[in-house]
Formats: sequence, C-alpha cells, structure tokens
Amino acid sequence: MVKIVIKKRISQFNKVISVDGDKSLSIRSLLIGSQSFGVCKIKNLPQSEDILSTISGLKKLGIKILFKNKICFIYGNGLNGFNYKKNIVINAGNSGTFARLLLGLLTKTPYILKIIGDKSLSRRDFKRIIDPLEQFGATFIANNKKTLPLKILGSEYLKPINFFEKRGSAQCKSSVILAALNTPGKTTIVAKKSRNHTELLLKHLKLPIKVLKKKKYDLIEITGQKQFKSFDYVIPGDMSSSAFFIVLTLLSKNSKLKIKNVNINPSRVGFIKIINKMGAKVKFKNKRNNFGEEIADICVFSRKNFKAINCPVELNSNAIDEFLIIFLLASKASGISYFNKLGELNKKESPRLKLASMILKKMGVKIESSKDSIKIFGNPNLKINKKILISNFHKDHRIFMTSVIAALCLGGEWTIEDAESYKSSFPSFIRILGKIGYKF
Ligand code: S3P
Repeated sequence: MVKIVIKKRISQFNKVISVDGDKSLSIRSLLIGSQSFGVCKIKNLPQSEDILSTISGLKKLGIKILFKNKICFIYGNGLNGFNYKKNIVINAGNSGTFARLLLGLLTKTPYILKIIGDKSLSRRDFKRIIDPLEQFGATFIANNKKTLPLKILGSEYLKPINFFEKRGSAQCKSSVILAALNTPGKTTIVAKKSRNHTELLLKHLKLPIKVLKKKKYDLIEITGQKQFKSFDYVIPGDMSSSAFFIVLTLLSKNSKLKIKNVNINPSRVGFIKIINKMGAKVKFKNKRNNFGEEIADICVFSRKNFKAINCPVELNSNAIDEFLIIFLLASKASGISYFNKLGELNKKESPRLKLASMILKKMGVKIESSKDSIKIFGNPNLKINKKILISNFHKDHRIFMTSVIAALCLGGEWTIEDAESYKSSFPSFIRILGKIGYKF
C-alpha cells in the first residue's frame, strides 16, 4: 500500500491553477452522449478512475468511445441504443454516480445484466434507486434488494411514474430522469433541491423537460422517447475539487490563488456560501455561460480570522461533498460551529461524518457528534505538533485530500495511507500541489 508522509507546512504562494473537470458533468455527458444520435465531442474530461469506469462500462454496452488529441468522441446510437448481450457484467468501481445513473438507462435491457463495484461501493445503498426503477417496470435481484452486486432485467413496456425524491439526492433524481427518457408518456418528479446538471443538460439539448422551481422542491416533468442529436461539450472545473485548494489558501499565510473556469452552478455553491458566512470572502470573477451552466474564475486570499457557523440545513445538499473540508475550516474558527441533519454523509464512499469526528479528535479538536450531526469547538490557534496516522478510511478520496490539506496548513507529522485514493475524482491533486510549491 502506498502512503504519503507530510512533515512540513506549505510555504506562501500566489498562483493561478485549473482543477480537473467536474465529475458530475463528466459522467452525465458520457451517459447522455451515449443515448444521442451521432458523434459527441467532449473536451476536458478528467482521467479519473470514476470516469474511466464510466467509459469502460459504456464500451461494454457497445458504445464506441475514443480519444483523439485529448478530446473524447462518443458514438451514440440513439435512445436505448446499447448493444445488449447475455452475461454482461459492468464494474462501476468506486462510482456511485455512474452505477446509479446507468441503472436508469438500463431499464429496457432484454437480458439480465450484472453491476458490481469495489468494496466501498458494495456497501452503499441502492434501494433508493431500485424502488423507483421497479415502478417503471424493471426487475432487480440484489442482496436484501439493497446493495451491489445486483442484477437488473428491463422491461419492454415501461410506464411513467410519479416520484417523490425526499433525500436531496441528485443521483436518485437523475437515475429517474434517465429512466424517463426511455419511457413513453410523462414522468413527474417532486425533488428536494439538489445539483441540477441533468436537467440543465437535457434542457440545453432541447429535450421535453420542464422544471418548476418551488422554495424547497423542484417539480420536474419529462416526456420520454424523444430522440436527440449528438452534441459538443466542454467540461468546466469541479467545485468539489477546487474546495480543497480554496481552504488551503484560506488557512495558509500570505497566499493568493485564482482557480480558472470552475462550474458555479447555484446548486453547487453551498460550500462557498457557508465559508463566506464564516468570513472567507471568496469571489467569482469573469462569470459566463457554458452550455447552460454558469462558470467563473474563483479568487481567494489567506485570512486570519474565521467565525464559527450554525450551518443552515437547507445548504446541506448543495455542499454535500465539501463538508469534510468545511469541518477543517470550522476547527480553526473562533466559536462553536453546528452542522445538523447530515446523516447522508455517512452514506458516501466512507461513513464520512463518523470518520471526520475521529480525525478531528486525533488532531486535538474538541467535537461532539451524533449519527447525523457534529458540533466543532473551533480554536483559531490550532497547531499540530505530534504524529498523526490516517488509515482505514475505505480509500475515500475526499478523506485523503482533506487530511493532506490539514497536514499542509496545521503542521505535525502526518502519515496518510492509501495515497492513490485521490485518483478516483481528482487525478491532478498532487501535481497541482507541486505547482503551488509543495514537494513531496
Ligand atoms: C452526485 C450527487 C451526490 C454527490 C456525488 C455526485 C451526482 O450524491 O455526493 O459525489 O453527480 O449526482 P447523492 O445524490 O447521493 O447526494
């Protein structure tokens, strides 16, 4: 097993960087591209493990995908244009997004198809999508009808459904939207607010999808079985990856960072809203539209003082992948921060809320936690002078990257195991740290 040892803090920096392409948009452009007619050209797809799993899964389903000069070409065969064969097994690796969204597209498979994943993905809940996809007419065989490995058998006669998505899970919402693409008639979804990339991409492609925005929920209507043409797309930078470098800059001395071309879709900026309430003053510059999504350059400076926060629960879903790094900032803020109703965090690549509580305690941060909340007693003078070992974190990419950032800002001697884990979402993470001056 590869591990990384960090013994010194990062020195001050003033840099311009770009992070890898957005994971959610990459997976959606590949899956939706595979359902179009013609050849899609996708630029700036990251070479992360989740994206490689998506590409190899689609290839197994008969979709031709190739790269020329770093541009990804997807040869779509139209809606449900997969080449189904007997005994296909698709390995989704670590990617919940790929596995759950793909299942939405497989609701018509005429042969039983098996989906497997790595150890972490095999622990995660699939009942949340099995239930609505069964209502469309698909049949599932899974351990307790809940986890991978699972088998799906589609139906020729899908029927539209009315679905209430109450968790704020974009994966569940998107899986249902993708199933609706293959279903005759109108599927209706009442969805608690969550990232809306699927809706925006389908709207951009002029598919019959209507979204009515209410205060807490969106009402989505989609009429299925409409073919669409191939498209070109440029994937913007990932806000969730940017978050690590934003907090690194905030907590370093006299430093400044610009991150170019990041997706700032309002459903993805919960993290920025939260840290700005804590005093971060992060700014978006040069805002523009990119295929129906908003992008901008992010500018951030070091700061000396941060305020604790009673984090509004309505921001939870829009910051769901950034809470680990937000907790790190809260541990340096003055006062007690409160984060509630975060049970979903324990259902990610690792039980993140539980592991974050353990890591913060190891760092000497006082916390109180329950199964869905954490209270962090911030200490603006927090410094670490001891050895810290981070291990057994289910190879969770975000736990790895948060630990690296903590080590680089707070000091101490850190040994972090499973040092390849960042590659599942952000393969340039270590290279960018090199660019801003840290030599491992
Ligand atoms: C994602 C949705 C979120 C997020 C994940 C990506 C997506 O998961 O945590 O990293 O692309 O739809 P949930 O839908 O489970 O909240």
